[in-house]
Amino acid sequence: MKRRVAILISGRGSNMTALIEAAKEHDVPAEIVVVISNKADASGLPNARDRGVPAVILESKPFGNDRAGFEAELQAVLDDNRVDLICLAGFMRLFTAEFVQRWQGRMLNIHPSLLPSFPGLDPHGQALRAGVKISGATVHFVIPETDAGPIVMQGAVAVRDDDTPATLAARVLQIEHRIYPDALRLVAGGGTRLDGGVCRTTAHGRSGDTLISPELA
Ligand code: GAR
Repeated sequence: MKRRVAILISGRGSNMTALIEAAKEHDVPAEIVVVISNKADASGLPNARDRGVPAVILESKPFGNDRAGFEAELQAVLDDNRVDLICLAGFMRLFTAEFVQRWQGRMLNIHPSLLPSFPGLDPHGQALRAGVKISGATVHFVIPETDAGPIVMQGAVAVRDDDTPATLAARVLQIEHRIYPDALRLVAGGGTRLDGGVCRTTAHGRSGDTLISPELA
């Protein structure tokens, strides 16, 4: 049985598109049943509809600080679509602890840094200012704290001296489009288990895989 997945977006939705495309494969234990945007002008919305996925606009702005009010409407859309798993994909609105607890272990997020480093805004600027030589992206289960929670999967890229936040973001985004579909496949297929604050998994990195940066010629 495929797990029924909702993707929540606020903008471009390139991770959404990667998830929709990957879920079309027959052996993926997940089906994207609805895309929900909290912004009417999110540029990802037509991409969902073009791929045959219903896209719902649920504007959060009119709710102001009434997070619970917005979440009640959101929950109704999730219930209508009998959603099992939520994937946040550039969804830029914070949830109440109650909503997060309700979806504990069933809601994933992607963040463009190697968490727990550089959560929050401008992760690539943070990485460049810290002078790290390797950065990347993280898929994690959502907990009430922003950009934190049990880590499902990470992917890394070398940081170059001449990188700007934009060039680093572009390279990390390519990694995001690889790891988010793989992480969803792993979680939807029952290949993860939460052990306290840590996500254990049946999959492993290839032993011997290394990324050294900078690497001497
Ligand atoms: C992605 O880089 C995602 O990792 C980031 O927003 C971008 C959305 O792009 N999310 C966060 O920073 C969460 N804190 P997309 O709309 O093209 O998928």
